[in-house]
Amino acid sequence: MCGIVGYIGDKNAVPILMEGLRKLEYRGYDSAGVAVYTKENIEVRKYKGRLSVLEEHLKKETLDGSLGIGHTRWATHGEPSDVNSHPHTNCSGDIAVVHNGIIENYMSIKSMLIEKGYTFRSETDTEVLAHYVDYFYKDDLLEAVTKVLEKIRGSYAFAVISRREPDKIICVRKENPLIVGIGNGENFIASDIPAILNHTRRIYLLNENELAVIKKDRISFFDESGKEVGKEVFEVNWDVAAAEKGGFEHFMIKEIHEQPKAVKDTMTSRVLPDSAGIKLDDIKLTKEELQNFNKIYMVACGTAYHACMVGKYVIEKLARIPVEVEIASEFRYRDPIVDEKTLTIIVSQSGETLDTLAALKEARRKGSRILSIVNVVGSSIARESHDVLYTWAGPEIAVASTKAYTTQLIAIYIIALYMAKLKGTLKDEEIESIKDEMRRLPELVEETLKYKSTIQKFATHNSNARDIFYLGRGIDYAVALEGSLKLKEISYIHSEAYAAGELKHGTIALIENGTIVLAVLTQDELYEKMVSNVKEVKARGAFVFALAKEGSTEVEKVADYTLYIPKVSDILAPVVAVMPLQLLAYYMAVEKGCDVDKPRNLAKSVTVE
Ligand code: AGP
Repeated sequence: MCGIVGYIGDKNAVPILMEGLRKLEYRGYDSAGVAVYTKENIEVRKYKGRLSVLEEHLKKETLDGSLGIGHTRWATHGEPSDVNSHPHTNCSGDIAVVHNGIIENYMSIKSMLIEKGYTFRSETDTEVLAHYVDYFYKDDLLEAVTKVLEKIRGSYAFAVISRREPDKIICVRKENPLIVGIGNGENFIASDIPAILNHTRRIYLLNENELAVIKKDRISFFDESGKEVGKEVFEVNWDVAAAEKGGFEHFMIKEIHEQPKAVKDTMTSRVLPDSAGIKLDDIKLTKEELQNFNKIYMVACGTAYHACMVGKYVIEKLARIPVEVEIASEFRYRDPIVDEKTLTIIVSQSGETLDTLAALKEARRKGSRILSIVNVVGSSIARESHDVLYTWAGPEIAVASTKAYTTQLIAIYIIALYMAKLKGTLKDEEIESIKDEMRRLPELVEETLKYKSTIQKFATHNSNARDIFYLGRGIDYAVALEGSLKLKEISYIHSEAYAAGELKHGTIALIENGTIVLAVLTQDELYEKMVSNVKEVKARGAFVFALAKEGSTEVEKVADYTLYIPKVSDILAPVVAVMPLQLLAYYMAVEKGCDVDKPRNLAKSVTVE
């Protein structure tokens, strides 16, 4: 997620903007910039890298002005670079924009504006906004912005200033947060409360599709129809630490809650409406190239590896291409059989995991084509790959990966459907049906959050468990692995995940009276077998927490506790089923007083052997 700040008043804007951007640094970013109205012009200073780079330049040449906007960028469209940093301006430089989110139809607007003679400098979707406001501008900035809003699609929060109307900031919010801070003879805007907490605790929250015109002594709000609306003042009583977490106790629970949006964002401009099909961004993978591959390796570490485990089931089922899943630290040293007929899919949230990067280089050295699924634009793994499909989860701060995992699954579904379409292994109507259901995933993920208190209660009663075993069959086995890792890494409770069919080959010897077993039963075709496995462990005294789909009530007769997730097709179930497992791990860790966001011995990005 990008960070937006803005100021209009009588003080010098730059120190206020820089302080606000520093307060948003925790969100993660790769570049930063400011635009200030300095009586004659709008001056823009923007650079790739840390805020200190921008600060150094601003020290050398201060900008005096009391109207300004600032931005920390988390790249989605276009690599981190000075020219791709925000703010972006129109050709004459008298309109500046900062933006958070994704303008879905920016390419078609950009083509139209280029035809009209506009010249673009960056690869970003955001720059379109600056030129588009210019395109509609006659003599009223509010009118021009309103016309832009009628044309753009996507999820966005953006702010606009203009040399022609230097008495205001206009900002808009759609599915991305934006707040207005109320001062005395001055006003502020920000993506997040921490940015302005030192100046005011009185804020307005913009609602969906609302537009605000912020002057130093007057703030007006307009709804989607252009009607002026009133607004309650919200008094912020959080401290800075709580504000950084959006009021949540930990980043992990905040990021668990961000999953509906992250899943939706990652589908944007890829899972296209109707029969427009599936788009892999600008990845060119032809039918001939795909037919040339006789094997796919999926290679990663930790949670990303578990996403690959799901990927194997999904790609083999939909595209009928053999997939081997490998732990990167094993793959890189075993002289794997790889050549130009191999497609290696690398998955990594950080894009910097050393073992995964090394595995990538080994596969590429042997002639494999490399397609990576990465959350950090311009990261090492992204740069070393032939093709990258980015997840748009936004920065993931908690060490335990949650929204990165679910968006990795979305990326895998997109790739699998694209391959199935190329190979003709699925009919168009089958592809459309899966796409339709994928579009429902954000609401299904959201729905599972209603179990928070139920799961919290279960955690309260079971946080002193010595061992917790996770069982699943098929794709549920992959989900069980991820659930088990979440629990281990943040609550330090010993846990194992087993393919349920393996129990009788040894591990059932571990089950004794009171052993906690978490059984995942979302796969219709394996449901009866799983119920039998639940009976097996129950017969040895286990306490069973079952996770099943609504309507599959047979297991309730056997398990001690059954939680139902919304009905969803087997192949998409992992995106929904993992939610209760993430929540269980979280509440267990909280109950045990663990450092949830920074668990012992772990780092967010493992850049060592
Ligand atoms: C996940 O919760 C862990 N923090 C860890 O297993 C992580 O998934 C692994 O280190 C891989 O990281 P990456 O996705 O950044 O490559």
